[in-house]
Amino acid sequence: MSTLLLTGGAGFIGSNLIRFLLRTTDVRIVNLDALTYAGNLENLSDVEHDPRLTFVKGSITDADLVDRIITTYSVDGIINCAAESHVDRSIASAAPFVDTNVTGTLVLLEAAKKHGLQRFLQMSTDEVYGSLGPVGAFSEDTPIAPNSPYSASKASADLLVRAFVHTHNVPAVITRCSNNYGPYQFPEKFLPVMILNAMEERPLPIYGNGLQVRDWIHVDDHCAAVWLVYTKGRVGEVYNIGAENERPNLHVAREILRELGKTEALLTYVTDRPGHDVRYAINASKIRTELGWRPTRSFDEGLRATVAWYRAHQAWCENIRTGAYQDYYERNYTSGT
Ligand code: NAD
Ligand code: TYD
Repeated sequence: MSTLLLTGGAGFIGSNLIRFLLRTTDVRIVNLDALTYAGNLENLSDVEHDPRLTFVKGSITDADLVDRIITTYSVDGIINCAAESHVDRSIASAAPFVDTNVTGTLVLLEAAKKHGLQRFLQMSTDEVYGSLGPVGAFSEDTPIAPNSPYSASKASADLLVRAFVHTHNVPAVITRCSNNYGPYQFPEKFLPVMILNAMEERPLPIYGNGLQVRDWIHVDDHCAAVWLVYTKGRVGEVYNIGAENERPNLHVAREILRELGKTEALLTYVTDRPGHDVRYAINASKIRTELGWRPTRSFDEGLRATVAWYRAHQAWCENIRTGAYQDYYERNYTSGT
């Protein structure tokens, strides 16, 4: 049985990936997460007692801690999901993005090199490619051209991964996925903001004209793809992940209002994001043909299920609204000591 160091596992994608791995594989997982504002251990409450899962609170920038974890738990591979992930926050303040996304990735790469780990997966993003015109899609050969401090920090990390493969033979792979949606997404990102505001009949903030296009994928399909790349991807390769669900933001907001039976009068146009990328679209033919991956969730079904999930998890939403989620670690992991 192998042991994986999975970083950022208290976040949206990381927590879904942990649940997916516990369900479908026999790996042991050490979840290293700093519990920033985006980290919520309540996302893992249903699996927190699983003997194959260990939680360590700490930062991927802490080289000594990473070193100790790898030795103590005999870690043989890393999946790096930890990141500062919200574009708007990177516009307000870029330094934490460089710290975690660039320096943190470097710390993990150095550790992978030092300990001779068998595998390293960097969870990157399609945003490193920049913005598309009205036609075409990002392939793995599209030049990197990041436009936001967030995507610039992720692109920098990708280049470090490439260099550690080339120079130090670290057996790393990179995934670049499009916009994820699904359960446990922190309500600062588009979909949960729209769903929660619609549920409470508050205005839905649409940036600019709302005609920006994102290519949506259900987080479960992303998780399956990541594991496939981790286990079967070729060292040094980049794999795009996407499910061919391009939608203008306004269209998605309208779908949510319809699903919840709310009026379109809630749509509220607000000042556009500076440097807003107009369109993302993913060509995922490489992972499809080379590794046989296929998405399983249609956008219409997945969106309905996601709206239903937020409706059914009002306590989870309320704990984020009040900030109570940030005490979950002290209440449930430290037994008061
Ligand atoms: P998220 O913001 O929900 O979660 C990030 C997690 O990382 C949080 O639990 C946070 O506490 C943790 N973290 C932050 N800084 C840390 C540090 N220094 N050390 C340890 N942990 C730290 O993000 P997400 O949406 O789950 O994204 C996960 C990864 O996937 C990121 O690398 C992101 O760039 C990438 N990605 C996200 C999307 C998307 O649509 N959400 C799409 C493609 C790629
Ligand atoms: P977001 O979820 O921040 O992801 P991305 O990393 O792709 O920017 O935003 C998705 C899209 O939705 C993006 O075009 C910006 C837009 N948006 C809004 O119109 N209103 C909002 O409140 C948010 C958070 C995003």
